[in-house]
Amino acid sequence: MKRFVIIMMVLAFTASVILIALGDPLMADEKPNPKKGKFLFKNRCKECHWPDKAGGDVTPIFYTQKQWESFFSKGKYLRKMDNLDKEFTAEDLIHIQQYLIEHAADSDQPETCG
Ligand code: HEC
Repeated sequence: MKRFVIIMMVLAFTASVILIALGDPLMADEKPNPKKGKFLFKNRCKECHWPDKAGGDVTPIFYTQKQWESFFSKGKYLRKMDNLDKEFTAEDLIHIQQYLIEHAADSDQPETCG
């Protein structure tokens, strides 16, 4: 009986180590990732955001860091793009926001081309 308890404890310990090891990259994924944001912005937002497209031209330098922050945090984008939160996951938007802020007009590395 004692041996059974010890085996169960070892199994439980092993399982939690595996879960923590697996969980870590998943957790890390949720951190704002500007590289992913750039990819998403270029491939998804730019679908509508060139001068000749429905949304007009939008690039990171169109706004300052503060303006991008409030654009996302206050859900301002929903006023003009009411289905944006359905087309993008909350995580996508966090990555995109990070990219836009890091390359905003008043950032260290302003970027024009999305
Ligand atoms: C399905 C098309 C579409 C997609 C995809 C899209 N937008 Fe838009 N966006 C629009 C339209 C349409 C407007 C309104 C343009 C206007 O009123 O002049 C707009 C407006 C905006 C504005 C305000 C522009 C202004 O001059 O006030 C910003 C900023 C913006 N979008 C950013 C984004 C970002 C960031 C993404 C990706 C997360 C995105 N958009 C994805 C269609 C789109």
